[in-house]
Amino acid sequence: MRGGYRESITAALLASAMISLHTGPAFAANRWGADYFPNVPLTTQDGATVRLYDDLLKGRSVAINVMYTSCKDECPLETARLAQLQRLLGERMGKDIFFYSITIDPKRDTPKVLKAYAEKYGVGPGWLFLTGNEEDIKLATKKLGLSRVRDSASKDGHSASLMVGNEPAGLWMRNSAVDNPQFLATTIANFLGWKNEAPRKSYAEARPLVLDKGEYFFQSQCSVCHSIGQGDKMGPDLAGVTARRDRAWLARYIMMPDKLLAEGDPIAIALFEKYQYARMPNLRLSSDEVAAVLSYVEGRGDARGR
Ligand code: HEC
Repeated sequence: MRGGYRESITAALLASAMISLHTGPAFAANRWGADYFPNVPLTTQDGATVRLYDDLLKGRSVAINVMYTSCKDECPLETARLAQLQRLLGERMGKDIFFYSITIDPKRDTPKVLKAYAEKYGVGPGWLFLTGNEEDIKLATKKLGLSRVRDSASKDGHSASLMVGNEPAGLWMRNSAVDNPQFLATTIANFLGWKNEAPRKSYAEARPLVLDKGEYFFQSQCSVCHSIGQGDKMGPDLAGVTARRDRAWLARYIMMPDKLLAEGDPIAIALFEKYQYARMPNLRLSSDEVAAVLSYVEGRGDARGR
């Protein structure tokens, strides 16, 4: 791949080549290297100054998303999924691949705030949270094809992008950061050409393919943040929650936690204050789906004898 074509390219070109890639990678005829990426300084959650191109991208394979710690909707889910992905990638983290989460709210997200956030999510080696000067961040995210996320961040249901790149090869691909982590791990392994990738399974995905609708919803939508009987994760342990809370409240809360919070519901406020950083997302489930997931949670809670 070295010594390929070299043309000066624009952000627009990169962004347009990075179209949705569930179907496959966008192969670049161009090299996106030092000429393309600005070498702006960014600060890690540990307070170290790093340069975007020289220290973070050059010679590396990377997965990059944008986030901000006070985000209510997609980001907590996104970070939780990336934390699962990090576990699936295991030893490759910090060696064969690096994760970068760049805040788009640098005023609030100081290194200290990012550090606390990263700890909350169990971030390990090879994954940096980055802040910096607003202009530098704007430029970096634009060049990385991630700035659109900012415009849609205020709207409901925006899709969170994860840009995966192999810098030396000039290959970049856009993924959804909230995809099933097992699927993402396989996609990334294929894209980066890792050989002999033994399928790795996380506990959440290791179960046999699901039969019951409630279990399916729980595993795919909730287990990234909740356990039933194995303690708190990003959100509270749900064992016994159906006995602890009123059923109608639960159904409403699961369907629209954001609305209950906005209405000043005292339980929603107390939960929100207790579980900092992660927030119960509005997953837009139907009432049928909520009913199915609640009976699953109830059954599991009972089976464990609480
Ligand atoms: C991104 C992480 C995340 C996901 C995904 C998630 N939750 Fe939550 N959930 C939380 C957090 C965090 C709280 C605590 C309240 C807060 O901080 O918003 C919570 C609170 C709850 C509560 C209230 C618990 C109590 O003690 O009263 C219930 C019930 C709940 N979630 C159910 C679900 C169900 C069912 C799903 C899947 C359909 C789900 N959650 C998906 C993070 C999540």
